[in-house]
Amino acid sequence: MPAFWHWFVAAGTIVFIIWCVWLVSWSSKQGPQNVADDDVVGHKWDGDLEEWNNPAPRWWLYLYFITIAWGIGYMLAYPGFGNYEGMLGWSQQGQYEAEMQAAADNYEPIYEKFAAMDFADLAKNDEALALGGSLYASYCTTCHGSDARGAAGYPNLADNDWLWGSTEQAIITSIANGRNAIMTPWAQVLGSDEAVTNMAKYVRSLSGIEDADNAAQAMQQPFTTYCAACHMPDGTGNQLLGAPNLTDDIWLYGSSIDTIRTTINEGRQGQMPPHGDLLGDNRTKILAAYVYSLSQN
Ligand code: HEC
Ligand code: HEC
Repeated sequence: MPAFWHWFVAAGTIVFIIWCVWLVSWSSKQGPQNVADDDVVGHKWDGDLEEWNNPAPRWWLYLYFITIAWGIGYMLAYPGFGNYEGMLGWSQQGQYEAEMQAAADNYEPIYEKFAAMDFADLAKNDEALALGGSLYASYCTTCHGSDARGAAGYPNLADNDWLWGSTEQAIITSIANGRNAIMTPWAQVLGSDEAVTNMAKYVRSLSGIEDADNAAQAMQQPFTTYCAACHMPDGTGNQLLGAPNLTDDIWLYGSSIDTIRTTINEGRQGQMPPHGDLLGDNRTKILAAYVYSLSQN
C-alpha cells in the first residue's frame, strides 16, 4: 500500500475509534431529559406499557467499552492499521501456506507409499491411478485436455504413440524437466513454394494418405539430406529429439497440405513446461504411471 493510503487508512481508523470512545462516554453522562410526568416519555402500548427516559444500564455501557477495547486489541494483533503487519504476524499468504503444508503432511505418506512401488505395478494399481487421475485433472488438462487426447500442438497422451518415449524414465523426464522440441524452418533451404508443397506431399505419402506423384517422389533425396537427421531416412522419427514419426498417420499439428506446409515453412517449437519443482518426485512418478496406463488400453 502506498504511504499516502497507509496513513489515510491508519488515521481514519484511529480517529474513528477515538470518536466512538467520546460518543459512548458523552452519552453516558447525559441525564434524563426534562420530561414531565415522572420521566415517562408519553408513549403507551397495550394500555399500561410505558416508555421511560432512563439512561442505559451500566452493564450495557460496559459492553460498548469492551467492544472498543476488543477492536483496539484486534487491530494491534492483526494487520488493520494501513501497512502495519500486526503483532501475531498473520497474513493471508501465511495462512494459505500453512494449510498447504498441512495438506502435504497428510498426503505425502500416501504419495510416498505409491512412489515406492514398481512402475509397471503402479500403472495397474486402481488406487494409484485414481490419485494420478485427480493430479492429472489439476495440473495437465489445460493443455492435454480432460480426456488426455490433446489438441493441435498438444500431444495425445491416451494413445500409444510417443514423441519422447514411453519408458518410465522418458515419461518422468517429460513431466519433470519438460521438453523443448526444435524443428527449424526449411522454406529457404528448399528454395521455392513449389518445393515446399512437393515436400509436404512426400511427407503425406509416407503415411499413405496421398500417392506421391513424380514431383513429390523426387523429394525423397532432399528429405534424406535435410530431414533424415531428425526424422530418420525412412521418416520413422527419433524420440531422443522428439522428432515425430511421419509414417504412422498420427499428427501433432495436422495432416492437411496447408498445415504441413506451415510446419515446413516456419518450423515448430512445441514446449512442455517442466513440472518437477511443482509436483516433487513422488507425484511425478504417480502421474507418469497414470499417463502410461492411458496408453495401455
Ligand atoms: C533438427 C531436427 C529436425 C529436422 C532437421 C527436421 N525436423 Fe521436422 N520436426 C522435428 C521436431 C522436433 C518436430 C516436432 C515439433 C514439435 O513437437 O513442436 C518436427 C515436426 C515435424 C512435422 C509435424 C508432424 C506432426 O505430427 O504434425 C513435420 C510434418 C515435419 N517435422 C517435417 C519435416 C521435414 C519435411 C523436414 C525436412 C525438410 C524436417 N521435418 C526436418 C525435428 C526436425
Ligand atoms: C502449458 C501446456 C502444458 C501443460 C500444462 C502440460 N503439458 Fe505436457 N506437453 C505439452 C506440449 C506442448 C508437449 C509436446 C512438446 C513437443 O512438442 O514435443 C507436451 C508433452 C508431454 C509429454 C510427452 C508426450 C510424448 O508423446 O512423448 C508428456 C508425457 C506430458 N506432456 C505429460 C504432461 C503431464 C502429466 C502434465 C501435467 C503435470 C502436462 N504434460 C502438462 C504441453 C503441456
